[in-house]
Amino acid sequence: MTQTDVLARIDRLFAERGGGEYHGESVTQLEHALQCAALAEADGHAPAAVAAALLHDIGHLLHGHGEDYLVRGVNDSHEDLGARFLARAFGPAVTEPIRLHVPAKRYLCAARPDYFATLSPASVRSLELQGGPMSADERAAFEAVPHFAAVVAVREYDDRAKVVGLVTPSFAHFRQYLERCLTVEPPA
Ligand SMILES: [Fe+2]
Ligand SMILES: [Fe+2]
Repeated sequence: MTQTDVLARIDRLFAERGGGEYHGESVTQLEHALQCAALAEADGHAPAAVAAALLHDIGHLLHGHGEDYLVRGVNDSHEDLGARFLARAFGPAVTEPIRLHVPAKRYLCAARPDYFATLSPASVRSLELQGGPMSADERAAFEAVPHFAAVVAVREYDDRAKVVGLVTPSFAHFRQYLERCLTVEPPA
């Protein structure tokens, strides 16, 4: 799969499945992705972090669990699925905040006492499936991961990107960031 193929697949996934429910919230997958990217852009993040914000849940569009997986108690591992797919075209500055956005929730629940109270009911439900808050050792190890600041930032945007009816720039606007972030040499 070439980088062009990956971009075309991303376009198709958002066009065909972006209107689906964002697991248990009142916004669609596309609205959630655009709001997340808009928050990263507004905070002046590097293009890779904006791209990561836009694509952090692409695994939900890739997997075949349907939209009721949360209700059925399935952990869909969408973070790994999405990061593996995107690694065909993007480097770790894009894929790591995506691969780690679920552990980042577990991290923030342990590191910031007030964070848990900000989670939506659906996010609290999925936290249990994802392993609950990190231990002190897990937390220390997590703080040493590459791209840690972007990892935490994308997670915080993820939690906020659930505003019904919010107007954002379009998918086409944020797609330019994807083109700018393609790796020079496609990974083998
Ligand atoms: Fe997610
Ligand atoms: Fe998300």
